[in-house]
Amino acid sequence: MRNNPIGIFDSGIGGLSVWQEVKKLLPAENIIYIADSINCPYGTKSQEEIIALSIKNTEFLLAHQCKLIVVACNTATSAAIDILRAKYSIPFIGMEPAIKPAALNTNTGKIGVLATKGTFEGQLFKETSKKFATNVNTVIQIGEGLVELVEQGKANSKEAIPILKENLDAMLNAGVDQIVLGCTHYPFFTRLIKDLIPKSIKIIDPAPAIAQRTKSVLAEKKIANDLNKASYSFYNTGNSLPMQSILKEINCTEKVIFTTLI
Ligand code: DGL
Repeated sequence: MRNNPIGIFDSGIGGLSVWQEVKKLLPAENIIYIADSINCPYGTKSQEEIIALSIKNTEFLLAHQCKLIVVACNTATSAAIDILRAKYSIPFIGMEPAIKPAALNTNTGKIGVLATKGTFEGQLFKETSKKFATNVNTVIQIGEGLVELVEQGKANSKEAIPILKENLDAMLNAGVDQIVLGCTHYPFFTRLIKDLIPKSIKIIDPAPAIAQRTKSVLAEKKIANDLNKASYSFYNTGNSLPMQSILKEINCTEKVIFTTLI
């Protein structure tokens, strides 16, 4: 069990923002990543559809003997994490919308959350807001066109700038001083977002905290890998080229294996 891989899934390549943090913190762990690019985006689908796709991705990772699964997708976490935990016996780590740190650190009393429609509609987002954000003003913004840009390998393109501006406008006008990236695709825009917002606004990416949580659960369950030669495999239900170019962009120098499942 200890040497079995960690599984990670997302609707697409956004979850690589989580993958890179998990890999950095847990260099001995083998990781299998599946991007369900053919069904991307999940954010506009119904909760039932997102649940069914999350089960399909989980079954795939279980067939590859994964010992723990990181749901590196806020949309899938918000819709399906409780169902996955009830249905399967292995541990699941989900994406937490980082509302708590944003609410704790705000000076203006206004925080922004950028996420998909599916995430805002899910139970988890509602519960987290109720728990941590009753004393602050939360400006929510459904990300329009952003996931698509990342999937097309255009996260750092000129084309992304006006689309990002439109998505950030309402939050900036409201005076937020914290912006939560509530979709794992969005950290790939961090450089461009920084150029578009005042330096006083903090951008919060929950990925490092998710990697920490993964580490704690592996230790708690006594299933951390005790060998030291990790391998990384990537599966894609669509075109794997954008994934290969993002891995290059984030300086992944390890040997990786790509498989397209169609
Ligand atoms: N990366 C995803 C998330 O964190 C999903 C985006 C989508 O497929 O709409 O929400």
